[in-house]
Amino acid sequence: MTATTGSSRAGDAPGRYQAVHQRSLADPEAFWREAASAVEWVTPPGDRVLDDTNAPFYRWFPGAELNTCFNALDRHADGGRGAQLALVYDSPVTSTQRRYTYRQLRDEVSRFAGVLAGLGVGRGDRVVVYMPMVPEAVIAMLATVRLGAVHSVVFGGFASHELAIRIDDARPKVVVSASCGIEGARVIPYKPLLDAALDQTSFPPEHCVILQRPESQAELAPGRDIDWSEALAAASPTSCTTVAATDPLYILYTSGTTGVPKGVVRDHGGHAVALAWTMSNVYGMSPGEVFWAASDVGWVVGHSYIVYAPLLVGATTVLYEGKPVGTPDPGAFWRVISDHGVSVMFTAPTAFRAIKKEDPSGRYLDAHDISCLRTLFLAGERLDPDTYEWASKLLGIPVVDHWWQTETGWPVAANCLGIEALPIKAGSPTKAVPGYDVRILDDAGHECPAGTEGSVAIRLPLPPGTLTTIYGDDERFVRSYLSRFPDYYQTGDGGYVDEDGYLFIMGRIDDVINVAGHRLSTGSIEEAVSQHPDVAECAVIGIADELKGQVPVGFVVLKAGVGRDQDELADEVVALVRQRVGAVASFKEAIVVDRLPKTRSGKILRATMRGIADRAAVSVPSTIDDPVILDEIRDALTRRGA
Ligand code: COA
Ligand code: AMP
Repeated sequence: MTATTGSSRAGDAPGRYQAVHQRSLADPEAFWREAASAVEWVTPPGDRVLDDTNAPFYRWFPGAELNTCFNALDRHADGGRGAQLALVYDSPVTSTQRRYTYRQLRDEVSRFAGVLAGLGVGRGDRVVVYMPMVPEAVIAMLATVRLGAVHSVVFGGFASHELAIRIDDARPKVVVSASCGIEGARVIPYKPLLDAALDQTSFPPEHCVILQRPESQAELAPGRDIDWSEALAAASPTSCTTVAATDPLYILYTSGTTGVPKGVVRDHGGHAVALAWTMSNVYGMSPGEVFWAASDVGWVVGHSYIVYAPLLVGATTVLYEGKPVGTPDPGAFWRVISDHGVSVMFTAPTAFRAIKKEDPSGRYLDAHDISCLRTLFLAGERLDPDTYEWASKLLGIPVVDHWWQTETGWPVAANCLGIEALPIKAGSPTKAVPGYDVRILDDAGHECPAGTEGSVAIRLPLPPGTLTTIYGDDERFVRSYLSRFPDYYQTGDGGYVDEDGYLFIMGRIDDVINVAGHRLSTGSIEEAVSQHPDVAECAVIGIADELKGQVPVGFVVLKAGVGRDQDELADEVVALVRQRVGAVASFKEAIVVDRLPKTRSGKILRATMRGIADRAAVSVPSTIDDPVILDEIRDALTRRGA
């Protein structure tokens, strides 16, 4: 296929990737100006594409105006794709399939925008969306954007405390939620979690709009809660509000090293331009084709590749409310691909590990024709070579590892199939995507030679569509990402570049862990554990897990004089984390120990504990208070079979 920016032409010569990448760095303004032609603007970008007057706060497309919802829906609905499918909802957990054409989706979004406008939502206001994987989640997001308001989607697997923290930070005018989510065969009532969060928050919204699902009806609070269907029936269509390209589009909270999540802010113009560019250039997608990202709208993958990118380019997106296994069997993914004619699929390696575990020979594939599938993209966590080999062999198509993060919003390293397919190296997400100048830095900020591990950093300015700041906290944005290495964005990952320029990501160098492709902060789990009245102190670390990549394990020191049954106490701590952080934490193990390893100044040696758990060579810091404690940790881990 031919990529769509002027930077890409048919009949590619070898080395094309390198040429495009170099051009993107040598003249970023020209590169992104050209890419901007894929978007319909109210006021097109002028001569100045990058505003660097307030560095390190760079802004793309200053002075330009647009509406992202118009670009995702209206221009297709009214421009020849009105009858084409925009969104296919496939829900094995409710035995439902629902299809929306571009016209139908636009009309629903436009009316739901009327509901929100009627509740006083306008440009710049925040709307929190706490929803399961139903089309109404996408409708709520796009309706918010239609009004020039800012959505903040909170993943449904988070419990009330995490939801409350996000509500307190975003201070939404309205929360949109549903009566329940469905996890396999279990109905999970969402409304009690929302109500508990609203009891905790200092900034409750004026209204909640609740989608009542047939599986569970929620009680609505008179005056505050509004029934989705009734409100929609009474609402009028509402047109798109023009906003500045630099206006905020959404806030998405992600785990940092502390228990306080970071509200990643993305803007309208850069986001629309960059995401449209990736669909053809990275994923090799054409308008009209079907793209399926098996993720959740609560994560960045869901934002970028379930909702925005496919719709921005006039493709069809699949919204799947199910799991890779158990809904009903490990053939679920093959069934969805075949039913909906999926051309390109995106998911996390853990999903394939789950399928491989239940169907190692891949016999469930025999019942489905998935010849429509051209490429499988995997991201969200390290793609282990076993899973890569298994998936490649089973599917017989390119399996492409690519690496990015909530902050970047789109791939930083990938095999850009729409530009030039490079040879795949197992274990590597290939090379930096055009727009990104990726460097490996040592502790002193000097570039590491090929093959030497260091901090993975990106030279500023970051390309369009990446985070512009942390919501309400410019200082934290600079402190978290830009202060460690001047002129660079610090990704938080460690890795190296090999002699051929291929990037290898070795994992986080901070206290962020990755559980089943879900990014979690050990800090927030520790905060929850510490709430237990018998716990004096604790440390939570990520430990390798065959299915989920990592799982959190807590080491707990009890208060002096507490004579409790250790198993009973561990169960209480596990229940507490589930109640405060949510089931998604997958926190199932708390180990009671006498002491934690610390430096003489009292800092808990989490990295050393991680090293022991990974059976890596551990260099014991000279500042350690009492090295004997490490043996206790080692014994505890050996007992659990780590
Ligand atoms: N609402 C409520 N609860 C949720 C939830 C949601 N949206 N999402 C997950 N949970 C719950 C799960 O039911 C599970 O509860 P349990 O401990 O009672 O069983 C818990 O949170 C942990 O979820 P998860 O880690 O996803 O484990 P799982 O056993 O349900 O499924 C996989 C494991 C591998 C099948 C699943 O994680 C998966 O498909 N992952 C790959 C795709 C993906 O989502 N990637 C994310 C980023 S790309
Ligand atoms: P998130 O912000 O939830 O998307 O998580 C981003 C983090 O997941 C990155 O910083 C990496 O640590 C990890 N990650 C994502 N994709 C990959 C990949 N392809 N290989 C290795 N790690 C990855």
